Amino acid sequence: MDHLLSIEAMHPQNIVKYIDHAVTLKTRRGQHEEFPLTGQVWALIFSKSSTRTRVSFEVGIRELGGSPIFLSQNEIHLGRGEPIKDTARVLGRMVHGAIIRTYQQKDVEDFAAYAGIPTINALTDDEHPCQILADLLTIREKLGGWDGKKIAFVGDGYSNMARSWCWAAKHLGFEFVLASPPEYQPPAEFLSKLGGANITVTSNPKHAVAGAHVVNTDVWLSMGQEGETEKEATFGPYQINAQLLREAASGHIVLHCLPAYRGKEITEDVLEQHSDTIFQQAENRLHIQKGIMARMVKHRII
Ligand code: CP
Ligand code: NVA
Repeated sequence: MDHLLSIEAMHPQNIVKYIDHAVTLKTRRGQHEEFPLTGQVWALIFSKSSTRTRVSFEVGIRELGGSPIFLSQNEIHLGRGEPIKDTARVLGRMVHGAIIRTYQQKDVEDFAAYAGIPTINALTDDEHPCQILADLLTIREKLGGWDGKKIAFVGDGYSNMARSWCWAAKHLGFEFVLASPPEYQPPAEFLSKLGGANITVTSNPKHAVAGAHVVNTDVWLSMGQEGETEKEATFGPYQINAQLLREAASGHIVLHCLPAYRGKEITEDVLEQHSDTIFQQAENRLHIQKGIMARMVKHRII
């Protein structure tokens, strides 16, 4: 049974295969002659808000011939305390695949283990694998690839995005520099699992961005952390702004998985200047996820 639960658990060759496949699917959007999800229903089980992930999966499932059903945690018994393993065993008997956005990584892994249907992590507190795959596709499109590139991430160093980027750096071998306030950097236990990766962690955003080809950020407060004003207050020097970007390589791109909080992690002018890339990055969620689902049902569309 194929699942996509984390970048950590992905084989590097599969990362490249998914991206290659997404390039083809994107080029041939609207001209597919094969519909590998025909007759299938895929459930989206979301415990957190979403614009991009929900819409890209719902559209993608339909474009592959299937039907999505969206299940908000608060509208099913999961939100009233029914265990994830029971939810999984019910849905596993009724639907053909599941896409889950929740808090704990273990819940996605338990769902996959108990449901017996292809399961995709649509964001947990630990990882956001679909987003990182879409970001890598965007880097491929904009810069030709990641080999020999320096990728910087400035912001919350132990967020789902930062963690998934660390795993991508380990698997793919590119230089990754993470700048974050000391108290929000990844703990030693996490970093020790990344042995052999070309990863530097710093509290100096200029150091991270110096010579970078890709400058990446994300919200300072992830979903579930709303109201943590003390945390947010430490991030002031970690804003992506025009002055910081003077340190970056010429021809650099800026990535933001969105939603963006202008005036916090990124300035309005930088976001608008790089909006072509950032919204291409958002669109790429659709293409990469179609490829993931098609491959999960063992069907490579060309
Ligand atoms: N980037 C992303 O996952 O966006 P949504 O929260 O809107 O799905
Ligand atoms: N780190 C952010 C990503 C949002 C797509 C969050 O978890 O809220």
